[in-house]
Amino acid sequence: IAKTAAAGGPTLLPEVLAFTSSLALDRALIREDLVGSLAHLTMLSRRGIVPQEQARAIRDGLVSIWDAAQSGDLQLPDEEDVHMAVESLLTAKLGPAAGALHAARSRNDQVALDLRLYVREQCAEIFSALSRLIGALVERAEVESGTILPSYTHRQRAQPISLSYLLAAYGAMFTRDVDSFGFVLSQTDASPLGVGAIAGTSLPIDRQLVRELLAFGRLTANGLDTVGDRDFALDYAYAASRLLVHTSRVATDFVDFSTSEFGFVRLDGAIACGSSMMPQKRNPDLFELVRGKAGAGIGNLVTLLVDMKGLPGGYNRDQQEDRAPILATGPLVRGVLDILQLGLSRVTFDKMRCLAAVEQDATQATDVAEALVQQGLPFRTAYQLAGTLVRACQDARVPLAHVTTEMAQAIDPRLNDEVLQAARVRGAVARKTSPGGTGPDSVREQLEALRESVTRA
Ligand code: ARG
Repeated sequence: IAKTAAAGGPTLLPEVLAFTSSLALDRALIREDLVGSLAHLTMLSRRGIVPQEQARAIRDGLVSIWDAAQSGDLQLPDEEDVHMAVESLLTAKLGPAAGALHAARSRNDQVALDLRLYVREQCAEIFSALSRLIGALVERAEVESGTILPSYTHRQRAQPISLSYLLAAYGAMFTRDVDSFGFVLSQTDASPLGVGAIAGTSLPIDRQLVRELLAFGRLTANGLDTVGDRDFALDYAYAASRLLVHTSRVATDFVDFSTSEFGFVRLDGAIACGSSMMPQKRNPDLFELVRGKAGAGIGNLVTLLVDMKGLPGGYNRDQQEDRAPILATGPLVRGVLDILQLGLSRVTFDKMRCLAAVEQDATQATDVAEALVQQGLPFRTAYQLAGTLVRACQDARVPLAHVTTEMAQAIDPRLNDEVLQAARVRGAVARKTSPGGTGPDSVREQLEALRESVTRA
């Protein structure tokens, strides 16, 4: 077969073929391409567009290419893309009869199909990686309810929380990723085959049959839109970017927590990286790279957006540049999710250090103020009074948790023993019974909801 030059023209210059070919990348889509061809062929044969005998020969040819691809010994000829490479292989087997397969089809709807099948598959893989990670967070949260640590706003100690609550927070973030990949799936779930190059076909095709064979929920609505549409890929790249923003934020917690300054976690020797010069180092490279790799994901999204921006309607060859970002996204996301799960399974929290960070500080100040509100004070008055108590403790270098009745009474008689109970660290966590709070019952409910989201995935 002539290298895809214009029909009837000379073969393409090798330099042009090399510059314009996407085969190096889209050979990864060979399975999708073959499955799409088999579905299209079945339809052509049922509709009498390709005679049965010819269809059988083409099917056998496609299946033998599939087998070779599966066993890893498929040599793809030097062509412009995977679609032409398959056609060329088929032609080598069957001669011109192979050409019957391309009736009512263009590479424009073919590539749209391959990409949709691929993205759909990747979403399924990402769902299972997400559900493994969320499942692991829930399991860990169940055994870490006794670990108390500070929460942070502005990276300053804020209020005491349980470690379970922190892990449930990560879980809540990742369930939104389950939702956003669900949206990606719904956007991807339309069969493009049969729109041809742009305007449909005069042949008596059956798009619904192809849709059913390929298990899509609906048909794309308009061929002109379909061949130029990569919205499903943009949604995919965005969902991936947002997920990677999430993993990067979790990673930063662990980079910070593993510093001597925080000292909250210890990295297992099997995940901590050393320094080539400083013998004492136990570096959190795994978490730093989880954070760093988010950049590539966001880059993929931006590449796709810029590639599509300003393209006129219909198919444009620029769209072939979608291949690198689309193909890179899935392995990137899955790699990050899996290593994050592994990394988290290999960190131990130093319960004493975590508790000390809460106790040595005044993170229960809000609880003292709320206890005063319970005694009838307006919140602003209570807030001022608790603030005065905190400053007195700081001046006396006494942690709020250790404040004495005498100290409190000297400030204001309303700071009675019942109010001071609120300065106890464990009580401060237990008392947060509001839905979505760090109290044990509330966290139990959050973990239950996470478990459900995992079954949804
Ligand atoms: N290699 C092309 C791509 O991946 C396939 C579609 C080519 N269509 C065309 N009219 N040249 O986007």
